[in-house]
Amino acid sequence: MAGNINLVVCDDAAAVAREAARRFAGEICARPGAVIGLATGSTPEATYAELARMHREEGLSFAGVSTFNLDEYLGLDGTHEQSYRYFMHDRLFRHVDVQPWNTFVLNGKAANAHLECQAFEQKILALGGVDIWLLGIGGNGHIAFNEPGSSVDSRTRVVNLTPDTIAANSDGRFFKDAAEVPRCALSAGIGTIREARKVVLLATGSSKAGAIAAAVEGDFTTDCPASLLQDHPDCTFIVDRDAASGLKSA
Ligand code: PGA
Repeated sequence: MAGNINLVVCDDAAAVAREAARRFAGEICARPGAVIGLATGSTPEATYAELARMHREEGLSFAGVSTFNLDEYLGLDGTHEQSYRYFMHDRLFRHVDVQPWNTFVLNGKAANAHLECQAFEQKILALGGVDIWLLGIGGNGHIAFNEPGSSVDSRTRVVNLTPDTIAANSDGRFFKDAAEVPRCALSAGIGTIREARKVVLLATGSSKAGAIAAAVEGDFTTDCPASLLQDHPDCTFIVDRDAASGLKSA
């Protein structure tokens, strides 16, 4: 099935970042109290660099913005260099004027992880929902740590990482050794993500081509979690030519 997903194919990864940053900046300018969803991983790093540049050079202000991150490793403190709290601080938060108390990253060291997940969902509701959520995609089609098999209405919860994901995150970019990668994470659910008013998914490189083709042109199926965005009313995939190379239509 080809769903509703809007596809934007850019020449290269730098153009993907510029296009994504332009969309997020547009949301923030339209509503200075915007609630934005964020992702970690290699793919969004250039987008965060571009948003930081827009703050520095063009006066884009995050002063009224609230942020929610997709996920965090279970057991990692926010000061751990591989924690997603640390990643966000390093790549974006410290470069812009977002108020630290308006940045919501799940606490991997919470005394009760289940309560932490519930509180995260409640906080999203209390702020009126997420206006626009940035996503990456795994080579197996995962979004956040929702691995294949995750249900369409899943909520924020503790999940197991698959061997594929553990391997991808210990290829030297992040963890150096698979043994160091936590086996579990706290992750927003697919249902949580689908409730965002807009979703923007980024993919660059040929290692994502199969997942992008399955998500955009394949069946609506839990086998490919990103395909569960096909019926979202405002979902855009911004990809480079390599990531688009498996698509029949691109
Ligand atoms: P990556 O990860 O951006 O590091 O490729 C994306 C993901 O696994 O969601």
